[in-house]
Amino acid sequence: MGRTPWSRDEPTRSPFALPSGVPGRLAGHVMLWLNRQQDVLDLLDVPPGAAVLEVGYGPGGLIRLLRRTGARRICGVDPSVQMRDLASRPHRAEIIAGRIDLRLGTAADTGFAEAEFDRVVAVNNVAIWPDLRAGLSELHRVTRSGGRALIAWHGGTRPSLITRSNALPAEKLDEIERALRDVFGTVTRRELTTLTCLIAVR
Ligand SMILES: C[S@@+](CC[C@H](N)C(=O)[O-])C[C@H]1O[C@@H](n2cnc3c(N)ncnc32)[C@H](O)[C@@H]1O
Repeated sequence: MGRTPWSRDEPTRSPFALPSGVPGRLAGHVMLWLNRQQDVLDLLDVPPGAAVLEVGYGPGGLIRLLRRTGARRICGVDPSVQMRDLASRPHRAEIIAGRIDLRLGTAADTGFAEAEFDRVVAVNNVAIWPDLRAGLSELHRVTRSGGRALIAWHGGTRPSLITRSNALPAEKLDEIERALRDVFGTVTRRELTTLTCLIAVR
């Protein structure tokens, strides 16, 4: 039995939403292959020495890109053991050294300290969270003053078939934007090629 995301009326059993077992591992490899996120990284604009948190890192495509930045700390939470293992695999040395820290956790319960991060990012998982406002409040809590949170969901200027099949109705996207504004204040919407991004500054 899956959990019911806030954006749907029924529980989801998709291995992309909550990867587990063999289907989950397969979904992880597919996401790693499909989800190239250099444009997200560019928009996130990670300053040298920054601490970054990725919520719902999945197979870790964005973690691999973050590793090449000047970020001092790269942390992540995801509830899937399969994704934690897959995302961690290429980074053993940096995990031991403490620069990379990929944990089990959720948007609503990251386990990190208040104001710990300069950048917080969540790609293609906000609509899967069971409780939108609990997740956004937690993202706000762990973002330092002046820090930035970026929430991305399927959309963009040239959506692929997969993107289109996962797109949210306009009113659900508006609901995320409104909730983010309630928590952070100002929010900017930006369209990338296959993602709609909401950027908030604490
Ligand atoms: C569609 S995948 C996206 C993975 C990755 N961000 C990407 O774009 O390739 C969704 C991910 O969100 C994770 N997830 C599900 N529920 C979550 C929650 N409540 N908080 C944080 N992550 C969650 C899943 O385990 C899965 O790894």
